[in-house]
Amino acid sequence: MKIAVLPGDGIGPEIVTEAVKILSALNLHLTMTEAPIGGAGYEAAGDPLPEATLQLAKDSDAVLLGAVGDWKYDTLERHLRPERGLLRIRKELNLFANLRPALLYPELANASTLKPEVVSGLDIMIVRELTGDIYFGQPRGIHTLANGEREGFNTMRYAESEIRRIGRVAFGIAMKRNKKVCSVDKANVLECTELWRQVMIELSAEYPEVELSHMYVDNAAMQLIRAPKQFDVMVTGNIFGDILSDEASMLTGSIGMLPSASLDANNKGMYEPSHGSAPDLAGKNVANPLATILSAAMMMRYTFNDELNALKIENAVKQALAQGYRTADIVTEGCKKVSCSDMGNAVLAALN
Ligand code: IPM
Ligand code: MG
Repeated sequence: MKIAVLPGDGIGPEIVTEAVKILSALNLHLTMTEAPIGGAGYEAAGDPLPEATLQLAKDSDAVLLGAVGDWKYDTLERHLRPERGLLRIRKELNLFANLRPALLYPELANASTLKPEVVSGLDIMIVRELTGDIYFGQPRGIHTLANGEREGFNTMRYAESEIRRIGRVAFGIAMKRNKKVCSVDKANVLECTELWRQVMIELSAEYPEVELSHMYVDNAAMQLIRAPKQFDVMVTGNIFGDILSDEASMLTGSIGMLPSASLDANNKGMYEPSHGSAPDLAGKNVANPLATILSAAMMMRYTFNDELNALKIENAVKQALAQGYRTADIVTEGCKKVSCSDMGNAVLAALN
């Protein structure tokens, strides 16, 4: 089994090191090969997604990614910026299904900014479409109008085949959970998402056991804070999913806890924490590696079909939390505040 390891920028290298430690301890026959992406790719090859990195990712069964981005690259031309490397690898590998679970570990109920009774027992799966929508829609750009003023424009678009395939992923996951799908759109204003809603309704006929509901994105944002436990699986487009998944992550105490999987039609996948590169924390050994470690667990589950090792990693994380280990982002009174590498070691010890 071949894994491409792409640490990226900011805290990426530190958190990936901890996840690699855990993967290596599983005693599987894993070949892990590192390559640069994002700002690191730009530094190494003048491209946020160097050709060799893309080729490695294509030749691998799975990709483990840290994070990309640093303020120092914000002034580069758009196609050279770190984020473009991430968006391109998603598109090139056809990773259309982004799974972002928001799961509250009981030990962290007090780390959330919401009341413990609102979030305890929370277990939501956000299914975000990842290769379409306004992120990739043409035409796009910044041009100058006849009157001399500049205008920026992007295009929200979805073909029904794109909606159907992400819908199938959501319904399929719901079948293994509580059989509820909430489709999030803005059908009252945007035609693109009016079609989204129609296709979801058509598709639901194939899944009679699953209860499908619909919610406008503004209401969904509110309901996530008001009563998040009403949700089981949420399915939505690229831009709404980007926003709602960040919001959902804070229900769990810290965005540092949230893993993600981005899958193609054959379950080949890229696994990365839902959070960013946090350049202000880089090199200080204080970041939370758990989202990346939990992403490695998702890799076991979704690409390698190895539920046993997925649970093994997840249980080791739970055990480290139960023992009171906390990185700075999730620390509460009475817990042991530890560094990034110490948290990795605590999970490693629990694993063994
Ligand atoms: C994410 C990130 C990316 C996105 C950025 C870094 C391009 O916010 O993975 O959610 O918008 O998809
Ligand atoms: Mg985001």
